[in-house]
Amino acid sequence: MAKSKTVFFCQNCGASSPKWIGNCPSCKQWNTYVEEVVEKTSTQSVPAWVDNQEEKTKKSSPKLITSLQSGPEQRIETTDAELNRVLGGGVVFGSLVLIGGEPGIGKSTLMLQVALQSDQKVLYVSGEESETQLKMRADRIGIRNEACYILSATEIQEIFKQVKKLKPGFLIVDSVQTLFSRSIESTPGSISQIRECTGQLLRFAKETNTPVFLIGHITKDGQIAGPKVLEHMVDTVLQFEGDRHHVYRILRAVKNRFGSASEMGIYEMAGEGLREVSNPSEVLISNRDQLLSGISITAAVEGVRPLMIETQALVSTAVYGTPQRNSNGYDLRRLNMLLAVLEKRCGFKLGAQDVFVNIAGGLKLDDPGTDLGIASAILSSYENIPLPTLTAFVGEIGLSGEVRASRRMDQRIDEAEKLGFEEIIVSANSVKGNSAKSIKVIGVKNIMEVATYLFG
Ligand code: TYD
Ligand code: MG
Repeated sequence: MAKSKTVFFCQNCGASSPKWIGNCPSCKQWNTYVEEVVEKTSTQSVPAWVDNQEEKTKKSSPKLITSLQSGPEQRIETTDAELNRVLGGGVVFGSLVLIGGEPGIGKSTLMLQVALQSDQKVLYVSGEESETQLKMRADRIGIRNEACYILSATEIQEIFKQVKKLKPGFLIVDSVQTLFSRSIESTPGSISQIRECTGQLLRFAKETNTPVFLIGHITKDGQIAGPKVLEHMVDTVLQFEGDRHHVYRILRAVKNRFGSASEMGIYEMAGEGLREVSNPSEVLISNRDQLLSGISITAAVEGVRPLMIETQALVSTAVYGTPQRNSNGYDLRRLNMLLAVLEKRCGFKLGAQDVFVNIAGGLKLDDPGTDLGIASAILSSYENIPLPTLTAFVGEIGLSGEVRASRRMDQRIDEAEKLGFEEIIVSANSVKGNSAKSIKVIGVKNIMEVATYLFG
């Protein structure tokens, strides 16, 4: 018997080395190399789902670009409007879509729901749950698709055997970390297994034009477990996120070869699966009967959709040692920058204060246009003066305290107007001449002007 060959792989970036090294020269991470057995077998070059005969007759040759056909990608619209939007208008034929998220966030629920409500023949392969468990979950969600097949398997060759028999309209694999190929000796979830199995699924998707959804786990620090290589291989990476203790979940495109990578969809986790939230602005703003300080409303844009979001801040005197700064849903480094700007440019003594920031609904914001909303909430809490309820704030804040214009300003103003806001404070650069809107658009140049306007 031939001696088995082992290679060390970086579990972070997928780089390989013939011997163990402590510091990965490629991604600079420490202690990420793990020994894996790789066996070169003759079956490896031919994917499991292709007959050797078929493979031999297929040839590809260079073609002139002018002779190639183009046209819009063919897409299947799923019954899930939020998912369609995030994918850029439905799932493209032959694309491989990776859905990442923390355990328990609802990835399996989301995909099973897509399978159960589709009008296509769907195969849902699960290596994580038994058929009984899946059936129980399906009963909870409600079965509408008569042609939804469930397969509990983890071995890629076995999966392809079934796929070839069934010829599903699309394939869902839960999860990539449980898959393994017999031609490689390392354990499921290791770099070489993930790379091999994803590679085979990719070829399957491209050559049969079948869309494939692949579920992947996420590690504690938010990376898709296993290698970055996985993200490079697939066409689309979607991130399913949210706070497990909140009902809202966000599906975000991180990479998309067939659409915008900044699109997002919002769901609500209910007793019978995930429900689409089609009017997020209305849900995310709580009804306030009582005026409270430290609350402001901002109009954020996620993808192409404007959202009115409630931001909250609490500023209180630090009683002990270094003041605490904590943020839920807003970048902590950006918060520190805002505090420094407020201190230096406006003279608010925030250096000795604890500051806590929270975005309603467990949402995470990365739109810089929300800066002004956060800064106003902080000032309101610091001064202990409530902000007017029907005022919204939009603008990016620069290091000298200037308020900069944000993208898609018209849409944000329209959204605020639609929800009955009376005024919106924006960068002076975004104010266009006489508009016929019922909402008052107030332009400001810097954060000092905002402070004067609010607190005199
Ligand atoms: P799951 O899809 O198993 O998460 P993942 O595959 O990302 O690990 O989600 C499980 C959670 O969702 C679990 O905490 C229960 C909850 N849930 C509901 O609240 N309602 C439902 O109808 C279903 C199916 C799950
Ligand atoms: Mg799962």
